[in-house]
Amino acid sequence: MPRQADPLGADLILDFYERNARELPWRQPDATPWAVLVSEVMLQQTPVSRVLSVYEQWVQRWPSPADLAVEPAGEAIRTWGRLGYPRRAVRLHGAAVRITAEHGGQVPHTVEELLRLPGVGDYTARAVAAFAFGARVPVVDTNVRRVLSRVVRGVDEPRASATAADRAEMATLLPADPAIAARFSVAVMELGALVCTAVSPSCDRCPLPARCAWRRSGAVPGVARRPVQAWHGTDRQARGRMMALLRGSAGPVDMLDLLGSTDDAVQARRCLDSLLADGLVERAHDGWFVLPGTAVAG
Ligand code: ADE
Repeated sequence: MPRQADPLGADLILDFYERNARELPWRQPDATPWAVLVSEVMLQQTPVSRVLSVYEQWVQRWPSPADLAVEPAGEAIRTWGRLGYPRRAVRLHGAAVRITAEHGGQVPHTVEELLRLPGVGDYTARAVAAFAFGARVPVVDTNVRRVLSRVVRGVDEPRASATAADRAEMATLLPADPAIAARFSVAVMELGALVCTAVSPSCDRCPLPARCAWRRSGAVPGVARRPVQAWHGTDRQARGRMMALLRGSAGPVDMLDLLGSTDDAVQARRCLDSLLADGLVERAHDGWFVLPGTAVAG
């Protein structure tokens, strides 16, 4: 049988989006390309509900890349707060510096140029090109991959990680008009976020009941669900405690306080060393540490 031309039912998904989309600030028409870039970096590993307030603070304080570029990276880390994976803040600061120095302060609009910015990978480059500039490029995140694998391939097992194959598949499904293609991409993401969820999908609310190959074959849940990452006792938790001490202090923090925030002395030392290596912390003077670029009195 020839492959269906429009297996994802673009009109059905666009209609679903029209009726159900969350009103998120980075989706508003007045969101600048910089605001879209900031949101996409924050959303890489963090749910919408946790991103919202930090995003608002960030774009209010630094409405353009040049506003952030003149500040030390440590201020970006401070405002990042408890979003997690704070290297993203350092990279976003690096992107602001690069955009200001090399692109006249304007976020570049091609995927190739975007990919050259710190912290911008295959997903983020295409998301910014599509959502900020209306480019007709496939945008594939975990939600899109799950919808594609269920609806088109009939299995609940997305390919192991986002691949060129996922993008090629999505590219064949995009509507021809670039502005509608971008809306279609965010609509598929929203379907995955709200209805076609990883666990307990709400198939009764799905706009594609007749088209979904997975549903037609009984909607059997896949086995390869990623276990929830443990947090308690991990290096991530220990690093998070040290970062919280540094964010909460206007000046240098005593090494003994940083090391004392974790019971296991070996783990504490390892975590402080890794924060230094990641550029999240700097030595101020003997035995004292600061967020990067923080001026030290005296
Ligand atoms: N809208 C645009 N990009 C998004 C994302 N990454 N997550 C949730 N909503 C979005």
